[in-house]
Amino acid sequence: MAESLTGHARRLAAVSVSKLFARNANRFKHFSRASDGLLFDFSRQHLDVEALAMLLADCERAGLAARTEAMFAGEIVNDSEQRQALHTLLRAPAGTAVPAKLVPLEGAVRTMRARCAAFVRDVHTAKRKSATGARFTDVVNIGIGGSDLGPAMAVEALRPYRTGHLRCHFVSNVDGTQFADLAAELDPARTLFIVCSKTFTTQETLANARRARAWIAGKLGEAAVRAHFVAVSTNGKAMDEFDIAADARFEMWDWVGGRYSLWSAVGLAIELAIGTQHFEAMLAGARAMDEHFRQAEPHENLPVLAGLIAHWNRNVQGCAGHAVLPYTQRLARLPAYLQQLEMESLGKSITRGGEEVVGDTGAVIFGEPASNAQHSFFQLLHQGTAHVSLDLLLPLTGAADAAADELVIANCLSQAQAFMTGHESDDPQRRHPGSRPLSLLVFPKLDPTMLGKLVAFYEHKVFVASVLWDVNPFDQWGVELGKKLCGGILPVLHEPARASEAPAELAGLLGWIRRQR
Ligand code: F6P
Repeated sequence: MAESLTGHARRLAAVSVSKLFARNANRFKHFSRASDGLLFDFSRQHLDVEALAMLLADCERAGLAARTEAMFAGEIVNDSEQRQALHTLLRAPAGTAVPAKLVPLEGAVRTMRARCAAFVRDVHTAKRKSATGARFTDVVNIGIGGSDLGPAMAVEALRPYRTGHLRCHFVSNVDGTQFADLAAELDPARTLFIVCSKTFTTQETLANARRARAWIAGKLGEAAVRAHFVAVSTNGKAMDEFDIAADARFEMWDWVGGRYSLWSAVGLAIELAIGTQHFEAMLAGARAMDEHFRQAEPHENLPVLAGLIAHWNRNVQGCAGHAVLPYTQRLARLPAYLQQLEMESLGKSITRGGEEVVGDTGAVIFGEPASNAQHSFFQLLHQGTAHVSLDLLLPLTGAADAAADELVIANCLSQAQAFMTGHESDDPQRRHPGSRPLSLLVFPKLDPTMLGKLVAFYEHKVFVASVLWDVNPFDQWGVELGKKLCGGILPVLHEPARASEAPAELAGLLGWIRRQR
């Protein structure tokens, strides 16, 4: 980390954010930017014009512009897996000029989009029916991580845009309880399953898919299975083995990372829920943010500024945690979605070149709908010793009624004030230190376009931070070890005679578990 940034932090430590506001009547103007209806207000961050200028110089030194172009142009930016990262191509509208080497990929995206739209139309119009001839009323997406969180988050966020009659459900947990609870409620003759797995090797997803398959076969007969399952994957062979019909397969590609995939056929559950028109509005919103990210000058660029602030808070202000606090219940799943996006992408300690990183990388992301969080963990954010940065997301309309909109806005603004100004008191228990680092994301309403913009904003913010820290935001080697070890422990659990195969340090615990079961 540049020594000079710490120098700025030391200088600023003596000045509260309230004082920074008092010193600069134009602070809101200087430290907020709007793009296409989305306001990013970072005036409550503990920085000033000089510190921001130094951060902007750092991002230039890190080569952000060239890295960004390399990503959009389809260069290999995921070095450790030797892959492109082309989630942005998924939201490029038809007719977009792309480099020659991306033309076939763009064609494949168009085909995928047309097939998804046709499928959605056929399910909505009941041209595609259940094996019994009944109309599908319920869709169950079976997937985990990127094959679950994006669709689940978006379906919930865009509930008011639901089109047609379908209810969407999500099953991810390996323990099978989500599936069991759903199966008790659903009519198999009206239930369509989407098995969503980029690799089609993910244990949790396969376990749930097999449960669902057995349920349909048990209730409607083996011959019914094909009509009730579609799949989204890169793995044709595994789809063969699962007996997914040819017209029920939706292609994925290794150039789309799981956590960047809701724009692909992984978003099929979203498109079934909200219809193709709304889904395309979501893509268009993301596209607008792509254009902004690519074209706006760094000091005007929302994701660039957010990435720089993430660096400032993590490495200079020492914030190991970052809370995502939406002032709408509709974004209840956004924190979980961003946990994967940010923590799988930035939870790295080795640079792209294989060296130890200098300084810190990804923060621990957590969050809840802010209304509820105010009454649970805001206490720690206001008066605790942990250093946590915050994003408050505020839609101006969309609550139950106009009075509820006002309640929401007033709550959000009063919390933003409290975090910034703090509170002096003779009683130390009642003292609030203030100057808690926070940004506000404010938008007129949470519609499909705005959701697309918000998600792309976070994707690019993560990219910017990854460039500053020189880590690969598109791989996730850290999740592999546990998966591999699980493969060794399962047989030991299953066959007690093989207990000696377990690592010695597990013997005691395994013995205890065996006696309890
Ligand atoms: O285990 C992590 C992970 O690989 C994520 O990166 C991914 O989104 C998730 O598992 C699901 O993977 P798949 O879509 O291949 O089932």
